Amino acid sequence: MMRIIRIAAFALMVPLAVLWAVAWFGRQPGEPALDALMRHAATLTGNAPAPPSAGVLTLPDGVSLGGPFRLTDHTGRVVTEADFSRGFSLVYFGFTYCPDVCPTELGTMAAAMDLLGEAARRVTPILVTIDPERDTPAQLADYVSRFHPALVGLTGSEAEIAEIARRFRVFYARVHPPDSTDYLMDHSSFIYLVGPDFRARAIFRPNTDPEVMAAAIRARLDRG
Ligand code: NI
Repeated sequence: MMRIIRIAAFALMVPLAVLWAVAWFGRQPGEPALDALMRHAATLTGNAPAPPSAGVLTLPDGVSLGGPFRLTDHTGRVVTEADFSRGFSLVYFGFTYCPDVCPTELGTMAAAMDLLGEAARRVTPILVTIDPERDTPAQLADYVSRFHPALVGLTGSEAEIAEIARRFRVFYARVHPPDSTDYLMDHSSFIYLVGPDFRARAIFRPNTDPEVMAAAIRARLDRG
């Protein structure tokens, strides 16, 4: 019996490992590993990947990102995925001390929300910090208010942040610039459209046009 389980587990793991390896070594110059994985997985499952110019990556069948979490919002309230189950959410992982990429992407999210008009009431934009040491609820409250009135900031313990980042395959690491005593965070930069179950339905690449993002969200809302 144990032997059968071992063989079954091995049979499942080998294709996944091969897919990762193919994706990793088959990356195009500058292409993030997740992009490459999606592209290769899409090829294998027969789903044509979205054209790169569109900025929207469709999740291939069998690839699941997201799920349950327990974090603290920018008002100090403990929240879980159940608090966001009445609609869709637009989720970004970043940090308030980010000099350039995070403000750009949060600006794009805010612009897409505005373009949605009435439909924006069914979408909650969320910033999950990957720098919980500095991004306290108070720090997040000040920061999110600069981008959009509906933007929710989420923080937590190092372990809670590591858990949700793992669920979304988000990479992050501390870096110490030589000319500064402060640290920065290196991090992947995708925007996730998640459904009421807090699992990703679509992923937006960095620098996606707000019009493209709003149109993709609208199409997803219409499908229910
Ligand atoms: Ni950033």
